[in-house]
Amino acid sequence: MHVLEAIRSRRSIPRLVEPAPDEADLRTILEAAACAPDHGKLRPFRFTVLRGEHADAFGAVLEDTYRARCRDQGTEVVPAKATKERSKLGRAPLVVVVSAMRPAGESPIPWTEQLAACAAACQNALLAATALGYGSMWRTGEPCYDDRVKAALALSPQDAVVAFLYLGTVPEGLRPRAGCEPDLDGLVREWRA
Ligand SMILES: Cc1cc2nc3c(=O)[nH]c(=O)nc-3n(C[C@H](O)[C@H](O)[C@H](O)COP(=O)(O)O)c2cc1C
Repeated sequence: MHVLEAIRSRRSIPRLVEPAPDEADLRTILEAAACAPDHGKLRPFRFTVLRGEHADAFGAVLEDTYRARCRDQGTEVVPAKATKERSKLGRAPLVVVVSAMRPAGESPIPWTEQLAACAAACQNALLAATALGYGSMWRTGEPCYDDRVKAALALSPQDAVVAFLYLGTVPEGLRPRAGCEPDLDGLVREWRA
């Protein structure tokens, strides 16, 4: 698939089914991610694969940390929300958490640029998945900003969770959404002296 076709045809698919990318395809996807432009060659991106029973166990982490956030904020636990946190990784057979490792000490490369490199890695992964025929979706949400979730991923509070990339097969019969037809109106201008 031509890269422009992958860019135009990629769409977020909220529910994905088996088969997940096999080991070879997953490697291709993660290699594409790691090809992202990366100022200073710091390799700030890390990829944590969640699948099978381990994804179920991580769902328990997401529920527990939701409950802990409610405690911190003094708000009631909403049972439906707790259930959603526990089960949401089940929306795809494989999830890759993309995180950004913050280097210790001062770096000549601003942290925002390291986050930008990780975002580029995410998009590369989504495009590679699209080119290989898989469906995908980039999700975030409160767990990304919860230090307890970071700890469960062996990250420190200074690191960032940039994405939960849901990967799998588009369910049969799902009507494909039209490809992206971007409207550039108001987005582009030519600077003049
Ligand atoms: C940084 C980032 C975070 C996102 N987080 C979520 C999310 O938490 N939940 C969600 O439904 N979509 C999330 N998305 C996906 C966008 O909502 C989605 O790309 C958008 O709706 C456009 O749809 P498309 O991907 O089909 O073009 C996120 C996208 C980005 C780039």
